[in-house]
Amino acid sequence: MKHLISTAELTREEALLLLDTAEDMAATQERAVKKLPALRGITVVNLFYEDSTRTRISFEAAEKRLSADVINFAAKGSSVSKGESLKDTAQTLHAIGADAVVIRHPSSGAPQMLAERGWINTPILNAGDGQHEHPTQALLDAFTLRRRLHGNASRGKDLNGAHVVIVGDILHSRVARSNVWLLNTLGAKVTLVGPPTLIPSTTAHWPAETSYDLDAVLREQPDAVMLLRIQAERMQDAFFPHTREYARRWGLSEARLRRLPENSVVMHPGPMNRGLEISSAAADSPQSTVLEQVANGVSVRMAALYLLCSNENEGRA
Ligand code: CP
Repeated sequence: MKHLISTAELTREEALLLLDTAEDMAATQERAVKKLPALRGITVVNLFYEDSTRTRISFEAAEKRLSADVINFAAKGSSVSKGESLKDTAQTLHAIGADAVVIRHPSSGAPQMLAERGWINTPILNAGDGQHEHPTQALLDAFTLRRRLHGNASRGKDLNGAHVVIVGDILHSRVARSNVWLLNTLGAKVTLVGPPTLIPSTTAHWPAETSYDLDAVLREQPDAVMLLRIQAERMQDAFFPHTREYARRWGLSEARLRRLPENSVVMHPGPMNRGLEISSAAADSPQSTVLEQVANGVSVRMAALYLLCSNENEGRA
């Protein structure tokens, strides 16, 4: 693994290595001294062309806990507003001493371009690109679900036999795409649910079932229900039913939560639209893993950075 661009490229062994390494990292986080020296002398640039709370902050926390030097770059307020290209920006950061780049970009494929064009020769970690992929989100979701299913005996285990329902705006969701590929690699069954206008026809070729009827799918008593944010900023009116209609048919209301088995987990990558795709009753219930997902994101991102970047010190004096 040189880069982390897409979960579609991960083998089962690579995915399990990432999850097991994240378990090791989580164990270090329970100690009084959380910091590890693994990336001392490595400079990681967080290159964010799009807003973020969870991903940006947890990558930064992960980098600092591995003792890396961290440079945060936000496109807002930079020379990007003067028309500087991604290539020139990346090469400028490399000249300043970047050894690895974490990138979030509104255009699908931007991290892949950085990895493949040879503009910079550093590990590239995709922190979310357009509607394409968000691999560390899917890894932290799988990590969270694996812990809920297997508890302390998670290490080395996959998600074979688990049923995960992903509900909402599949069309615009990089989280859905990364989760479908990774959950399939780990042996889980995936059902995608949402309004017909928000489930793209390409899902016919994805390793997942699709349905427009949330109540029918919930009667199958899934192990996990993952609600996706309705992405108003990417939406054209034609795609989206009235918000009240959406919440009534596809929202995880309190009544739907009560009909779920007690051990079904409720997941959301955040940020949440409370009252739309998820009720507060569901978001704040003991079945919710929303904050657990955020906390696990640090361990998973530490694992990804460690596995991709710890060789970058080799060959230095
Ligand atoms: N889940 C997620 O990517 O959240 P942010 O946009 O806050 O990073």
